[in-house]
Amino acid sequence: MLMLKQHFGTNTRGHLVIGGADAVELAERFGTPLYVVDEQRVRENYRRFYRAFAERWPSVLVCYALKANFNLAICKILQGEGAGADVSSGNELRNALGVGIPGNRVVFNGNYKTLSELELAIINDVMINVDSLQELDAIEGLTSRLGKRARIGLRVNPNVKTPTHPYIATGLRESKFGFDVASGQAFEAYKSASRMRNVEVVGIHSHIGSQILDAGPFEEEAEKLMALVAEVKERLNIHLQSVDLGGGIGIPYKPDDPELQPEEVAEHIISVVKRVVEEKNLARLTLVLEPGRYIIADASVLLARVGYTKERPGMPTWVAVDAGMNALIRPALYGAYHHIELANKIREKNEQLVNIAGPLCESGDFLGKERRLPAAEPGDLAAIFDVGAYGLAMSSQHTAQPRPAMVLVNRGKAEIIRKRESYEDLTHLDQIPGWLK
Ligand SMILES: Cc1ncc(COP(=O)(O)O)c(C=O)c1O
Repeated sequence: MLMLKQHFGTNTRGHLVIGGADAVELAERFGTPLYVVDEQRVRENYRRFYRAFAERWPSVLVCYALKANFNLAICKILQGEGAGADVSSGNELRNALGVGIPGNRVVFNGNYKTLSELELAIINDVMINVDSLQELDAIEGLTSRLGKRARIGLRVNPNVKTPTHPYIATGLRESKFGFDVASGQAFEAYKSASRMRNVEVVGIHSHIGSQILDAGPFEEEAEKLMALVAEVKERLNIHLQSVDLGGGIGIPYKPDDPELQPEEVAEHIISVVKRVVEEKNLARLTLVLEPGRYIIADASVLLARVGYTKERPGMPTWVAVDAGMNALIRPALYGAYHHIELANKIREKNEQLVNIAGPLCESGDFLGKERRLPAAEPGDLAAIFDVGAYGLAMSSQHTAQPRPAMVLVNRGKAEIIRKRESYEDLTHLDQIPGWLK
């Protein structure tokens, strides 16, 4: 049975249609492997997410998490929508500023920010979510040198269990991120920060994990953060202005995965925030969210050409395509599921049991196992769905494979937004020392 999300279509030639463009024609025109991003879908996702919160709370800032996909054209689309940015490196910060997102709508997260990255953030009035006392000291030192105050929040660890892959669960006590809430460490960190002359303590931040399909953990996170907001007001007289609950809303990757509506998450979070603000008589708070995956994942498809097929008695047929873990590492790294169809046989029956493999020399180099596809032949075009988040952003040059190109489609128009890497791109940074020449 054909399983396509509703923003995709098919045409009379039996081809997959993305953003009004025929996938087979895109592959012919731009080559494979090819990431294709549907601009309208990115906009729809952002608008729905923003509205879900903004309709329920008067002050909301949605900061797109660039780590999901930091391509400049994608950043530009979101800047045009009015999004802020969540950045986790100085270069992501440069991308955000470069497309015109104002520094005061950017949050800088992560457990290892270099001094030059912190400096760039301070100069641009970026909110820095501090992850350790040593980072706090480093910021205080920089502000004295730069003669500029820094706006900070503290990344706290609320110990919230999330039903997701352990590598992307970040809110548990044992995780490397943030100040521990339960032991009072986070409270003490607020005390230390409040004594610093050039540091303005304005926020609280946490991110409990990614690909979460249940609103419960977000509500628990909100409860724990709001309790600390109330405590620092009562005991330290610090009036925090923003509560940043991070990202993490998941999407259905498998046809039978549940869907978590952003409205449901907003409802759960905001009922907690409202209650605590009223009970504790807190000042007006801005609610900050940092969605990455929700905005971009389902707006993109990876097109890969079938090169070879190999039947095995009693086992799934191997179908080798020209994109593997180099182009999309999520199946190899997390055992993640990505739905796959043949874009040029989109209406044909999925009758053959197959494993879809990449071209690399590793057994972990697969995109899908035990899937049903129409009988695959060399020259067919595989479409791997929901690859917009952590796809090209986590790609590599393993076995000297150039990274794929990325094309943006909008109502039938298509233009390259990231060129395909060349042999020169693979080698131009290498050098052979004089003594080997
Ligand atoms: C601090 C922070 N914010 C936001 C995100 C985005 O998460 P997601 O793409 O699941 O929305 C991440 C992802 O790891 C993160 O670490």
